[in-house]
Amino acid sequence: MAQQTLALKCEHVVKRYGDLVAVNDVSLEIAVGEIFGLVGPNGAGKTTLIEMIESLRKPDSGSIRVLGLDPQAQSVELRERIGVQLQATSIQPNLKVKEAIGLFASLYRKSLLHPEELLETLSLADKANSRFRKLSGGQKQRVAIALALVNDPEILFFDEITTGLDPQARRAMWDLLREFHGRGKTVFLTTHYMEEAEALCDRVAVIDHGRIIALDTPANLVHNLKAGTKVLFRVTNRAVASAEFAKLPAVTRVEPKDDGFVLYTSDGNATLQELIRHADRQGLSLDAIRTETPNLDDVFLALTGREMRE
Ligand SMILES: Nc1ncnc2c1ncn2[C@@H]1O[C@H](COP(=O)(O)OP(=O)(O)OP(=O)(O)O)[C@@H](O)[C@H]1O
Ligand SMILES: [Mg+2]
Repeated sequence: MAQQTLALKCEHVVKRYGDLVAVNDVSLEIAVGEIFGLVGPNGAGKTTLIEMIESLRKPDSGSIRVLGLDPQAQSVELRERIGVQLQATSIQPNLKVKEAIGLFASLYRKSLLHPEELLETLSLADKANSRFRKLSGGQKQRVAIALALVNDPEILFFDEITTGLDPQARRAMWDLLREFHGRGKTVFLTTHYMEEAEALCDRVAVIDHGRIIALDTPANLVHNLKAGTKVLFRVTNRAVASAEFAKLPAVTRVEPKDDGFVLYTSDGNATLQELIRHADRQGLSLDAIRTETPNLDDVFLALTGREMRE
């Protein structure tokens, strides 16, 4: 990627805490205008990496450039141009929402002309005069987002912004990010929610034990998995062995699961049709038949042998 179109470039970034290598030789490039997602389980190194990029932590080795700037040597210049989500706990509890916005806006040379519109977009207009401590968790989260947007940043950094939000508030957050992205801006986010990464991100890096173990578009990650579709069902009238289903067309693997079976197949339709015929012939009663197409959760499982969420 040409240098001027890069929002972020990390080369061989390492961060250690004693014997623990929290971020282990991470290299990645993000283009201006991308929504990039970093996904991984608890303790994978997401916050450590994002905070090094934001200039809040210092790498032990490697190089980071954000909009061509060095987060350590040029942090003042950089802070003007990026939006960093604050921890809700770092906002003065007695400040009113609009005072907090005014205070933060005053910290920047450039700030939004119409903070009222921002509050409107975040459905916070009726809370402008409420004190921070009186807001609900989701409302506090939205104030933190408003504060990250107050300097009209070129890149937004969000670390698990939707954790703890109800589904409706999560959707609203997605819309907000898409709108921001629609104005040609860049987003770097971390999340535990694979469906969030799939829904929002142009590209996703999967991080585990400090290492990036996969990086691609969500569709390519799933496609390259070649896990294919799953056909799930139960047999309700008699005991059957896994082997009975292994010979069905396109089936690559059979696994017993929850009083039933999972057939892994390269052709969900062919397997499903033949499964029903087979059951008919053999007098098997099938129940709860459904198919599942693979998603990023399956990618994580295939890469690490573990479930994404403990
Ligand atoms: N300041 C610190 N001192 C010592 N160890 C730390 C420090 N910060 C993080 N770690 C360790 O580094 C590893 C990575 O932590 P990090 O917070 O980056 O993970 P994460 O992917 O953000 O996890 P989560 O999903 O739980 O937020 C963890 O094992 C953590 O215990
Ligand atoms: Mg974290």
